[in-house]
Amino acid sequence: MCGIVGYIGKRDVAPLLLEGLQRLEYRGYDSAGVVVNSPKSSALKMVKAKGRVRDLEARVPKRFAGTTGIAHTRWATHGAPSDENAHPHMDAEGKVAVVHNGIIDNASDLRTKLTAEGVEFLSETDTEVLTHLISRNDADTLEEKVRGALKQIEGTYGVAVLHADFPDRIVVARNGSPVVLGIGEKEMFVASDVAALVSHTRQIVTLDDGEMATIKADDFRTYTTSGTRTTAEPTTVEWEAESYDMGGHDTYMHKEISEQPDAVDRVLRGRIDDRFSTVHLGGLNLDAREARTIRRIKILGCGTSYHAGLIGAGLIESLARIPADAEPASEFRYRNPVVDPDTLYVAVSQSGETYDVLAAVQELKRKGARVLGVVNVVGSAIAREADGGMYVHAGPEVCVVSTKCFTNTVVAFALLALHLGRIRDLSVSDGKRIIEGLRKLPEQIQQILESEADIKKLADDYADAKSMMFIGRVRGYPVALEASLKLKEISYIHAEAYPASELKHGPLALIEPALPTVAIVPDDDLLEKNRAALEEIKARSGRILAVAHQEQEKADHTVVVPKNEPELDPILMGIPLQLLAYHTALSLGRDIDKPRNLAKSVTVE
Ligand code: G6P
Repeated sequence: MCGIVGYIGKRDVAPLLLEGLQRLEYRGYDSAGVVVNSPKSSALKMVKAKGRVRDLEARVPKRFAGTTGIAHTRWATHGAPSDENAHPHMDAEGKVAVVHNGIIDNASDLRTKLTAEGVEFLSETDTEVLTHLISRNDADTLEEKVRGALKQIEGTYGVAVLHADFPDRIVVARNGSPVVLGIGEKEMFVASDVAALVSHTRQIVTLDDGEMATIKADDFRTYTTSGTRTTAEPTTVEWEAESYDMGGHDTYMHKEISEQPDAVDRVLRGRIDDRFSTVHLGGLNLDAREARTIRRIKILGCGTSYHAGLIGAGLIESLARIPADAEPASEFRYRNPVVDPDTLYVAVSQSGETYDVLAAVQELKRKGARVLGVVNVVGSAIAREADGGMYVHAGPEVCVVSTKCFTNTVVAFALLALHLGRIRDLSVSDGKRIIEGLRKLPEQIQQILESEADIKKLADDYADAKSMMFIGRVRGYPVALEASLKLKEISYIHAEAYPASELKHGPLALIEPALPTVAIVPDDDLLEKNRAALEEIKARSGRILAVAHQEQEKADHTVVVPKNEPELDPILMGIPLQLLAYHTALSLGRDIDKPRNLAKSVTVE
């Protein structure tokens, strides 16, 4: 969703900010804007545009010099996408400019109050309220003005403020929406996502909720919203600028699908302990004695991460024999859940920023629960809030829809399940069996990727479908759910996933030649049951595409995937279906990396 970039230093700022905004495009947005200042001038210069960053770039005048500036990509919440509603928002005198991620809950009350005091609003946004509050605050320093304004607002924010009377600084603050500082040589950056910074510096400081910072060209300081100084040691981000490039692929999604063998190798690296047929997961902060007291595991996530959690719950139940289930975090937090002290809660999130997941974690912690995070982005909000956890080390994922992170998250769950299993009742030989299976994954994924040309043919064949059904049983069902989500997200073809066992309880009524079914048919103890479902579909002249370990007689087409251990099969069976969604969307001419109406990280409710 919305993105923030800021710079203060000696360089010409507009091109830097526009480049930073381009690096944030992947998050999803509908308008953009930039404001700059130079030490020689007392006026801020601003340009905004509905649409893409390139539309904004086209509007930036030749004379737009400045060495300090802030910029923004907006995802509309209060007010439609338009030039006026795009950020930054300035006050009437053109002295204060604000960019903001998040939502101000009491914006409408404050707007009424400010309007009564004579303020004229130029936009419908909640953010503009903040601009006027800062502008009307008569404190002596910019920090005090911002602090005073923030005290009056309720809601979430990541904000950056520029003030013409304080040209040597940018003031930023964070509450529920990420803000990172990038430390350079006599120049400083600020952004809502390290993606915007890594081409300039890999030294970063991540602000905590309730923290503010003042950045100057050669210095920064952090403090709480009540003014107490905090210590912030810069850390080095692992991800390099090149990891954010397309690397010769036509889309990020294709690049990220292709990276899976390496990504899986990374999540395994350094964690396997052959001596005890287990894995080391130091970051869990959970010793063996504590792990033995866990009576249930509840996994929370949204979208694809929720699906990864469903497979994770299955892995935990089968390997560790601990009752486990997954639930959308968005549902969990609103149903006043019973929080049980013997339950271990696991929050799953690629970005580590998804608001619904973060809010669920905060609610759980408030009730005294132990929460682990399974997260990709190091230092992200959920990783910081959790009591411990594991990073999935997939590398940056830019395409809005998740592929390599999904796979790595499931592998991470296999590691967690193995770890917990070996502390409890999983035998050495079963531990060995799973470890051998895990080690085979990168090569087997590569093998599947090599059949891309065949999957593309199938995708072209099925792309005219108006709707598709995905079925699977037990371990195969979450695979069907994820494959159906992937297809609808990027191809806009309606798709539904059902447990194969439920077919005859309803969806069979839909089966006809125009509704193809994708069936997950692993060679496991449910093979015959799955085959019976294929028979039922065939008897109604339904077309079937099977993903299986061997050719399926009843299917019109079978994609054969290599066999692993049954517990790990869901990881492999998902891969060809990522390619199926990809090539279907491609043949329909869709904007694959930025599907309509979707954002990479949903940082608001
Ligand atoms: C958004 C994205 C989905 C993603 C979900 C959860 O809705 O469009 O692709 O699965 O957020 O994101 P997370 O970063 O928490 O895994």
